[in-house]
Amino acid sequence: MQRTQRSGGVENAGTDASGVTLVPVEPNISTDYFERERHAVFRNVWLKVARVEELATPGDYLVRAFAAAQVSLVVVRGTDGVLRAFHNVCRHRGNCVVKGERGSARNFVCGFHGWTYDDRGALGHVPQEAEFGALDKEALGLLPVALEVWEGFIFVHLDPEPAESLEVYLGEVAPLVHGFPFDEMELAGHWTARIASNWKTFQDAFVEAYHVATVHRRSIPDYRKGPVKADLETFGRHGNLTFYLDLHHEPTPAEGWAFRAGSLAFLRGETSSPARDRRPPGVNRARKDNWIFDEFLIFPNFHLFVGDGWVLCHDFEPVSAHRTDWSVRYYLQRTDNPVVRVAQEYSKVTMRDTIREDLSTIESTHAAHRSGVLPHMVLSTELEGLIAHHHAVVDGYVERAAGSGS
Ligand code: FES
Ligand SMILES: [Fe+2]
Repeated sequence: MQRTQRSGGVENAGTDASGVTLVPVEPNISTDYFERERHAVFRNVWLKVARVEELATPGDYLVRAFAAAQVSLVVVRGTDGVLRAFHNVCRHRGNCVVKGERGSARNFVCGFHGWTYDDRGALGHVPQEAEFGALDKEALGLLPVALEVWEGFIFVHLDPEPAESLEVYLGEVAPLVHGFPFDEMELAGHWTARIASNWKTFQDAFVEAYHVATVHRRSIPDYRKGPVKADLETFGRHGNLTFYLDLHHEPTPAEGWAFRAGSLAFLRGETSSPARDRRPPGVNRARKDNWIFDEFLIFPNFHLFVGDGWVLCHDFEPVSAHRTDWSVRYYLQRTDNPVVRVAQEYSKVTMRDTIREDLSTIESTHAAHRSGVLPHMVLSTELEGLIAHHHAVVDGYVERAAGSGS
């Protein structure tokens, strides 16, 4: 059996001849470990915040709190068209400057004493400024964080000058979905929940196909006739799964209608998909006819699914060792065809149902971990290798931070 390396870096957790990997449970339930993750991981990596379409017009802004990193950020498209991100903290005495979740504004007025910042973060108006004597307003703009965009996904890094650019951080994953028409997608479904689980345990449920035959036996019973297996691959700190469908899958009457209506939809899995030519080179790398989607695990907490004509984004936001805020967005190819729209609606409902099934195991698994009866999880390296990999990468960050004394 293989144990995940306590000092694992960003490479694989490793495999051994037995095909079993043991992953310790303690990091999933320890509040001390969570505090270490807070600093070693979440304050030290690129974090996905939004899509560029959410901030399309100059003045558009959104507020995003990252509980794990203990920060609130405001992301704004300035009147110059440039996207920027700042700590949502007034330079006067620290009040939260921007309330609410999103909107459009040219100025942000702190609700405490009225200090006013423009859409580039510069401090403008200070009430009773003369009473401050020589106030260096130029040095008192909102505190910036680094912001970069990958394929329309906006990422931030709390270090305004991070050691790694987003492109370097993403490494080999960065080019894999290049060319996919993300800008032709529109939001079809958005679901959120606060789950009583550690963030890693939660994410573990979405990085293997082993559960499909049981957890999804009602929604997609003949997804695979034989053993369910996805292709797994790691790319440094990140990971990838490629999922396949049984080509003999017998559509239900509703599904059959939806597919005939031209749905570019979840589980269509047909070689004649009209979106086939638009698949980016980095998905379905084995070029199998029964490909249905690729899932990219962008470290630490963003899962991006790419299929023909659809995209699914999971954001797992740790709140504590035992709580995780979860947000999932389902995007579908924009269309004016009402028949296709109806078919897409069918796809959306299928996706919703499978995700609800996925949620059914998380809290009981976490509760069992908290009971202390299991020292470790017993994983199939072949089927569940990405779980071990993710835990090892987290551990590598935590160990390195401990080694550097930070
Ligand atoms: S704390 Fe913002 S104006 Fe005083
Ligand atoms: Fe699932």
